[in-house]
Amino acid sequence: MSTSITQLTLTRPDDWHLHVRDGATMATVIGHTARQFARAIIMPNLKSPIITTALAQAYRQRILDALPTDSHFQPLMTLYLTDDTSPGEISRAKNSGVVFAVKLYPAGATTHSSSGVTHLQKTYSALAAMEACGLPLLVHGEVTDPAVDIFDREKIFIEQQLMPLTQQFPDLKIVFEHITTKDAVDFVLESGNNVAATITPQHLLLNRNAMLVGGMHPHNYCLPVLKRETHREALVTAATSGKAKFFLGTDSAPHARDAKESACGCAGIFSAHAALEFYATAFERAGALDKLEGFASHFGADFYGLPRNTGSITLERREQTLVNEVTFGNKTLVPFFAGKTLAWTLL
Ligand code: DOR
Ligand code: ZN
Repeated sequence: MSTSITQLTLTRPDDWHLHVRDGATMATVIGHTARQFARAIIMPNLKSPIITTALAQAYRQRILDALPTDSHFQPLMTLYLTDDTSPGEISRAKNSGVVFAVKLYPAGATTHSSSGVTHLQKTYSALAAMEACGLPLLVHGEVTDPAVDIFDREKIFIEQQLMPLTQQFPDLKIVFEHITTKDAVDFVLESGNNVAATITPQHLLLNRNAMLVGGMHPHNYCLPVLKRETHREALVTAATSGKAKFFLGTDSAPHARDAKESACGCAGIFSAHAALEFYATAFERAGALDKLEGFASHFGADFYGLPRNTGSITLERREQTLVNEVTFGNKTLVPFFAGKTLAWTLL
């Protein structure tokens, strides 16, 4: 049984969905990810979004400049899809060698998504170019219709947007990001091998009670919002299935404490400080530690057509009490599982 394992050595993993922000705040959080992961897909939803290859190249350089000098961490950049993204911009992105995907935010769905897509049809020429050159589309899969209940927004998105999209572009590589429902798991399983999904630690470890029972818990609030227990169980089954369609993407999304503990608190959970320990905890609870390496270190690279990493990391079964605060620019943030104890420690 897995409880007898005291050390777990994995091919060095990658984070296929990460927010690091920019400037002084980025400089204070990037090291957490660089310590755990070889590479990360960097989300483009800055206040002024990364809508061109030139912006992505400059943002990448700022990240590299903020890393410790001995770091080999590689930021994998993305473009922010808008109604106006041109096929020419897609080919510039593909040819740049530094942009690895394009992110779809439905306008208004989440943090800094106001420049996002208003109608998918407006992006069809860009999507056709991506399908042709093999640049993946990363999808924030929630409808924004105010009439749709927030807990149903992913399921309705699948029916109204994603199914038609996969029919229109059958060869487009799609990563359904941070999936939160059994409906999303089923959709991914029923789709071709060009459709995969990332799963966050919070959606594996928590259900919506963690956000709402005993008071409001703003530090467990993210988008898509935590769902009921049956959905969490479906996500654990998918992540630990050993199926290559499901891989690691933390969606670590830093916000200062005051922006979370507010009358209108921001969506986003910071998990980069102990990402692998969180996943190890979830996989161990499912009795599936042997499936962690594929999920964390192999399947994402394979899907993106990138080489697997050559180095390794080791997790040890040694208790650690997680920090209560993390520096975030000139403020602090409250990280995931603040002050709680985990059974695993990354060496
Ligand atoms: O919780 C979230 N936070 N979900 C997102 O989609 C965006 C992210 C952020 O940028 O803070
Ligand atoms: Zn995200």
